[in-house]
Amino acid sequence: MNLTDRVAVITGVGGGIGAALAHRFAAEGAAAVVVADLDADAARADAADVGPVAHAAGLDVTVEEQVRALVTDTERRYGHIDLFCANAGVATAAGLDAADADWDRAWRVNVLAHVHSARAVLPGMLARGQGYLLHTCSAAGLLTAVGDAPYTATKHAAVGLAEWLAVTYRDQGIRVSALCPQGVDTPMLAEGLATGHLGARVIAASGAVLHPDRVADAVIAGLAEERFLILPHPEVAQHALRRAEDPDGWQAGLRKLVRRLRA
Ligand SMILES: NC(=O)c1ccc[n+]([C@@H]2O[C@H](COP(=O)([O-])OP(=O)(O)OC[C@H]3O[C@@H](n4cnc5c(N)ncnc54)[C@H](O)[C@@H]3O)[C@@H](O)[C@H]2O)c1
Repeated sequence: MNLTDRVAVITGVGGGIGAALAHRFAAEGAAAVVVADLDADAARADAADVGPVAHAAGLDVTVEEQVRALVTDTERRYGHIDLFCANAGVATAAGLDAADADWDRAWRVNVLAHVHSARAVLPGMLARGQGYLLHTCSAAGLLTAVGDAPYTATKHAAVGLAEWLAVTYRDQGIRVSALCPQGVDTPMLAEGLATGHLGARVIAASGAVLHPDRVADAVIAGLAEERFLILPHPEVAQHALRRAEDPDGWQAGLRKLVRRLRA
């Protein structure tokens, strides 16, 4: 898929990756880019920045009725949706001690919201015999986010759901990609680095912390090839391979890095 004349929806545009995607989609010639966020002011600011092809919406992705309303409104306004990017996500920076409310929020934003948006958008896409779902997961969904148990568990679930959608709907014209970056320079990671959180330090020590525009580059290339796994950090594929081939050896390597950072 290329973005020329496409209608795209992106959730979580108040942060770095969603905003970068919105700008890039507009630059690639999208007909419309609907930008939605819990922070409606941030969505409006992003839309104003992107220009006239953008339309802003306030949206809590954990409320299914709101997701349905966004999809219905976009279809009414622009006729159909070519690409739905379920990008909103939350980290908790906590381990087993994370409060149940934080586990619940991570589950609702990082996984259940992807179910809600797929449910809402697939009927229209299936009727047209085409459509694309881009789910922002994380390298944490293929590996482990040190210091964040809810993020690790829910991002693994998000990759599993994306894979299930790809296998189930590909032969009906639906493409699915799971975007799995490692460190990206956005408020999510910046907060962790500012507080010296171990997880953020592990990410920074594990490879390049990319500008969100580089993630957008990888998305454009991945969509063009209609590739399931989009890996802005190519080394993540090597880590995932090593983890699959030798789980104990891979875990030992990660523990060694954690010990070094703690020392
Ligand atoms: N930054 C990284 O290093 C990194 C790495 C891998 C994956 N990711 C993933 O990329 C995605 C985008 O993250 P980012 O780095 O731009 O983070 P960010 O925190 O800067 O942005 C996330 C956005 O999601 C929005 N959001 C949160 N809960 C919401 C809800 N209930 N409804 C609607 N919007 C909501 C926030 O308001 C925010 O604007 C997330 O899914 C994140 O998990 C980030």
